[in-house]
Amino acid sequence: MGADLEDVLITPERLQQRIGELAAQIDADYADRELLLVGVLKGAVMVMADLARALRLPVHMDWMAVSSYGSGTKSSGVVRILKDLDCDITGRHVLVVEDIVDSGLTLSWLVRNLQSRGPASLRVCALLRKPSAARTDVDVAYVGFDIADAFVIGYGLDYAERYRNLPFIGTLAPHVYAADGGTAPESTAAASKAPDPAAAGSTGAGSTGAGNTS
Ligand code: IMP
Repeated sequence: MGADLEDVLITPERLQQRIGELAAQIDADYADRELLLVGVLKGAVMVMADLARALRLPVHMDWMAVSSYGSGTKSSGVVRILKDLDCDITGRHVLVVEDIVDSGLTLSWLVRNLQSRGPASLRVCALLRKPSAARTDVDVAYVGFDIADAFVIGYGLDYAERYRNLPFIGTLAPHVYAADGGTAPESTAAASKAPDPAAAGSTGAGSTGAGNTS
């Protein structure tokens, strides 16, 4: 991995420290309520596991997997559920745990979908947020880190299903994209969703109608 990595943006220590801060805030906000954490697979696996363990509140945990479809290099916000929740969220306090909010289109769809199921409350916690997320209508109540527009990997986040197990958040060296036949994902919201090297080869960078899972 060493040569594939360009930069370490957020160290494991800083991740744990910030997750501890978020957990303290969430503990205080939900002090008298029973909370259901909904993790969005696969990217949120690490933050969900660490956040849940940092919380003092007893929480329930459930998971969803979604695939977002795009056209060209743009995420369209058209989303398909690959794995739905196992539980009914009607009347429950739900906190969606996301890895990263980029364009926010996937999250916006997810929030609308979950809201239609009648939860008592619904909030979002995202480990990372890119500047483009400011343009969406989704309110992210708990944000770990606001980062610059760059394609990041590690701590759950992938490029072509690789690097999810890195204990830190980093950026990839350009030769990795080149080896996959593409160019580095551009630092825009839509283009930074480029986990599919085949797509990167045909479009320069970015997602295609083939869809991307988190
Ligand atoms: P959005 O709909 O544009 O907000 O896309 C959100 C999803 O795209 C995230 O849940 C990730 O799966 C993926 N994504 C966006 N940016 C990155 C990145 O920099 N690295 C890895 N995955 C990303």
